[in-house]
Amino acid sequence: MNRRPVKNKTILIVGGAGYIGSHVNKLLYLHGYDTVVFDNLSHGDSRNVLYGSFFEGDLENASDLKNLFKAHSFDGVMHFAALTDVGESIRNPAVYYRNNVSNTLNLLDIAVENGVKFFVFSSSAAIFGMPIKDLIDEQHSRSPINPYGHSKLIVEAMLQDYDQAYGLKSCSLRYFNAAGADPECEIVWYDRKENNLIPLLLKSLKDPSKKVTLFGTDYPTVDGTCIRDYIHVYDLAEAHIRGLEKLMTTQTSSSYNLGNGRGFSVYEVVRAVEKVTGKSLQIIEGPRRPGDPAILVADSKKASLELGWKPQYSEIETMIEHAYKAMFSLAEE
Ligand SMILES: NC(=O)c1ccc[n+]([C@@H]2O[C@H](COP(=O)([O-])OP(=O)(O)OC[C@H]3O[C@@H](n4cnc5c(N)ncnc54)[C@H](O)[C@@H]3O)[C@@H](O)[C@H]2O)c1
Repeated sequence: MNRRPVKNKTILIVGGAGYIGSHVNKLLYLHGYDTVVFDNLSHGDSRNVLYGSFFEGDLENASDLKNLFKAHSFDGVMHFAALTDVGESIRNPAVYYRNNVSNTLNLLDIAVENGVKFFVFSSSAAIFGMPIKDLIDEQHSRSPINPYGHSKLIVEAMLQDYDQAYGLKSCSLRYFNAAGADPECEIVWYDRKENNLIPLLLKSLKDPSKKVTLFGTDYPTVDGTCIRDYIHVYDLAEAHIRGLEKLMTTQTSSSYNLGNGRGFSVYEVVRAVEKVTGKSLQIIEGPRRPGDPAILVADSKKASLELGWKPQYSEIETMIEHAYKAMFSLAEE
């Protein structure tokens, strides 16, 4: 690996053993930052904390947070830790508000107490609810339609208030659908409950008895299936570094929608998976799910203009290929 620059700055990555956080940890390291990952491993894997140091702990546990901040001082915090299953959040909102909101409050309080100035937050397209236009920019109205989306919007509001009252500067990044994997295959695909289309389709290739159900084939789209915006996890990681550095230089809080700006229908993704893997998929055509909009695509012009951010891995085949390689090398272990 090339010699990396040294920034003499330490970033705390909360939830950094999970899917997106582990990629951001790697990229922060390559950009010269020191990192400390804090994670309770409820949905993450410590094998993916490849750089920096690892502190196993839970945001709900005050003594874990106290020990963490006693052992280190941080120039910035990136917060990925959350529960992420929309359907589960409808069935059990209490655990979502507790982990995604109340535990975030624990983190914010100890960060402010310890003089942290910069905070990058994993928000979501779910804060917007049903889209009223095809491309969703930062001005789009925010009306979440499930507890998961509400939990993210509440934290965004908390961050505005913490800026006003305590001067904590934050950057909220609203991801659309994260996809792909580490192109260098260093970060492993660990066994986890998948909610996203691409891993679900790839998983079904391993076990053909697990057919994937497509929810709705009668939407007013090119082929009747929903259109979504997929963004490579490495492109998301790059946006985090840019968001953090912008925060540090401008000392101004902000928020950005992060997507490809281009949607793919479910059938397009199915065909792309078949093309990349050379295998055919067993699909079941099911009815629509309540609350699924026909089209959900980001307008990321603001991130492009203000952060100079542009997705490098925007082809759906590339995202699928990286995820396929990561997932199938796990199967061969
Ligand atoms: N994956 C996506 O497509 C997507 C889209 C929009 C937003 N997001 C947001 O991005 C963030 C990261 O998502 P992900 O897909 O990497 O999820 P993930 O589940 O892989 O990662 C979350 C990590 O946080 C840890 N964690 C959860 N609760 C914790 C707690 N109380 N204390 C300590 N650690 C805890 C988990 O163990 C896990 O490692 C989440 O906040 C999610 O809401 C993800």
